[in-house]
Amino acid sequence: MTSSVLTNDFVKLWNQIASAAHEALERVGQSGQVILGNEVASFEREIAQRTSRLHGIGVANGLEAIEIALVAAGLKPGDGVITTPMSAFATTLAIVRAQGVPIFVDVDKEGLIDLSLVPVAVGSHPHARFIVPVHLYGFPLNLADLKEVCLRHKLVCVEDCAQALGATWNDEVVGSVGCSAALSFYPTKNLGALGDAGAIVTSDHRMNECIRSLRDYGQTGKYKHDLLGYNSRLDEVHAAILLTALLPSLDKWTGRRREIAHAYLSGIQNHHIRIPTPPRESNPVWHLFPVLVHQPLRDEFRSFLSQRNIMTGVHYPFLACDQPAMRDIRFGTVGSLTNARRFAAEQVSLPIHPFLTDEEIEHVVTEVNSWNPVQGS
Ligand SMILES: Cc1ncc(COP(=O)(O)O)c(C=O)c1O
Repeated sequence: MTSSVLTNDFVKLWNQIASAAHEALERVGQSGQVILGNEVASFEREIAQRTSRLHGIGVANGLEAIEIALVAAGLKPGDGVITTPMSAFATTLAIVRAQGVPIFVDVDKEGLIDLSLVPVAVGSHPHARFIVPVHLYGFPLNLADLKEVCLRHKLVCVEDCAQALGATWNDEVVGSVGCSAALSFYPTKNLGALGDAGAIVTSDHRMNECIRSLRDYGQTGKYKHDLLGYNSRLDEVHAAILLTALLPSLDKWTGRRREIAHAYLSGIQNHHIRIPTPPRESNPVWHLFPVLVHQPLRDEFRSFLSQRNIMTGVHYPFLACDQPAMRDIRFGTVGSLTNARRFAAEQVSLPIHPFLTDEEIEHVVTEVNSWNPVQGS
């Protein structure tokens, strides 16, 4: 195989959506409304419906979706926010920007926050009032357990669904459980805009009003500011493209991701590689396809694949609590974060995007199976 197997293919995406995207742009231009118009409103309804919520609110990106959702949920400076250190740094950054104190809990064998440790976190951090769980890699958390632990410990939950739009646990969709949920439409996401975009979903009417105000400078009427808000509006152009050029294909693209995941799960057999397999109740959307390779072999594995034109990623090489940006920031940890550290050291993401060809998928399986670190590459 001469051309590279990419982790994302934005040119193939563009070639599929170009004419619908041009139409969407034309619609916005002809409407004369470029900020918070009908396209944003229609897209918000679609997103709310897809997460079984009453309200969707478009915002500028996923980071601000989490931050604004926390502020709207009543987070006060110094409130503890239980979360995972194994996520995009944006999850932690949003908590810190909202003036919460992150409390990092270890992850389970799939790399998701270990909900059985939440009672320990609450016990050792009495100021813990919030939880931001992350449906990482497109794997849904156990939503029954999540609801139960929030109820029992009176935790206000903002789900981070940036990687998992459409994933279900026992047919219940992620984003439908917390008091609100945050979504990102960053270009690499399963529903990726042609730029930055995000949304919050909720079924709480007051929270809906508050979030709408916060995203628009805290306005409650024209030039009337009851809150100190943000400029975090979803652009009309992005909403239009998301609505009619991208969203109509999301189910087809998710189906293709599932086919690829199935091909990898059934085809990859190499005892140097462990594949975290989601439980039976879980229907992931496979934002990423994570595998674990023992250190110190990860770099060798990645360069072996790279020499065979297979690109890979690492999600994520550093824990949020270990980032230099956190050096002067107050945070808590629960235990030694052993599993999270293992993911940081061993995780590799294999290519999984809807435009991979059958030949490319086969090439990945064959090469992954042929890697034998004892013989070297
Ligand atoms: C889990 C998670 N949370 C939050 C974000 C932040 O989203 P955005 O890049 O749209 O700000 C991302 C994406 O980078 C993410 O993967």
